[in-house]
Amino acid sequence: MAFPEHRARRLRDHPVLRRMVAETDLSPRRLIQPLFVKETLTRPAPIASMPGQRQWPVAGIADEARRVAEAGVQAVLLFGIPAEKDAVGTQASAPDGVVPRAIAAIKQAAPDLAVIADICLCEYTDHGHCGVLGQAAGRTTVDNDATLERLAAAAVASARAGADAVAPSDMMDGRVGAIRDALDAGDLAHVPIFSYAVKYASHFYGPFRDAAESPPAFGDRRGYQMDPANTDEALREAADDLDEGADVLIIKPALAYGDVIRRVKETFGVPVAAYSVSGEYAMVEAAAERGWIDREAVVREVLLALRRAGADLLITYWAAEVAGKL
Ligand code: PBG
Repeated sequence: MAFPEHRARRLRDHPVLRRMVAETDLSPRRLIQPLFVKETLTRPAPIASMPGQRQWPVAGIADEARRVAEAGVQAVLLFGIPAEKDAVGTQASAPDGVVPRAIAAIKQAAPDLAVIADICLCEYTDHGHCGVLGQAAGRTTVDNDATLERLAAAAVASARAGADAVAPSDMMDGRVGAIRDALDAGDLAHVPIFSYAVKYASHFYGPFRDAAESPPAFGDRRGYQMDPANTDEALREAADDLDEGADVLIIKPALAYGDVIRRVKETFGVPVAAYSVSGEYAMVEAAAERGWIDREAVVREVLLALRRAGADLLITYWAAEVAGKL
């Protein structure tokens, strides 16, 4: 059938029918709100490069989590900023560390809110890299295998404190398997792993490094995070993590990586989460502040685009705001 029998505008031009035939939508159950908790704070601190977002004190995180839950969001992703940093990120696995304490507080205030603990060392090391350092071929680099036990210990500490899931974001090889083994050995076989399987070495993380106080003191993360030029490699990373026991695959960044989201979702058919990162948030907020874009409309369009690309779940700094309006 061709024009004039076929008219694509017929369904578009009717507001009710247009909504009925929409292929994708946003729903609060799809949204995950990242939260930053900082051990040395006594009151919330704004994050300059992420307008509207704050670092929370341990004493205030539960109230914020309750607010997020009341908006309709069902899960938060927790990042901790410890009082003390050292070479091996000791505080990342401390049972009374900032994240375990925050988890306990949130679980008490909002028992139905799922708490996902981000697992990485960069917030906890004094050099800001995502693992412990070593030497290879005369260069200082992150020692992959020595890092695995640190990550596994951090995951166990968060899970023991009540985390509903752990999300390793370090990009070491073999860390999903190491974490799975440690959880299973610790009577925590029921705790799922949301693996940042496909994490690119991206310049879109800039504002996050202010928020999490985790910039690398030297060099960059290209020795462990992925090259933005690659997508076949994304499939290999995803396959490895699934073999090692990952339950959900996270892809990040999101907005410029819709092709990767689509390929991973179509190849593996497992739950996929897209992380709309700090730089994506900051770009939209900055343009909106200048009056150059319609903020709310653009936020929805961005999140809808990620769902359309194939993401089941969206990790976004806009989660609570958007859920509250849906
Ligand atoms: C650290 C981590 C980063 C992000 C999440 N976990 C930053 C990095 O790898 O440097 C970025 C999130 C964002 O930009 O919103 N492991």
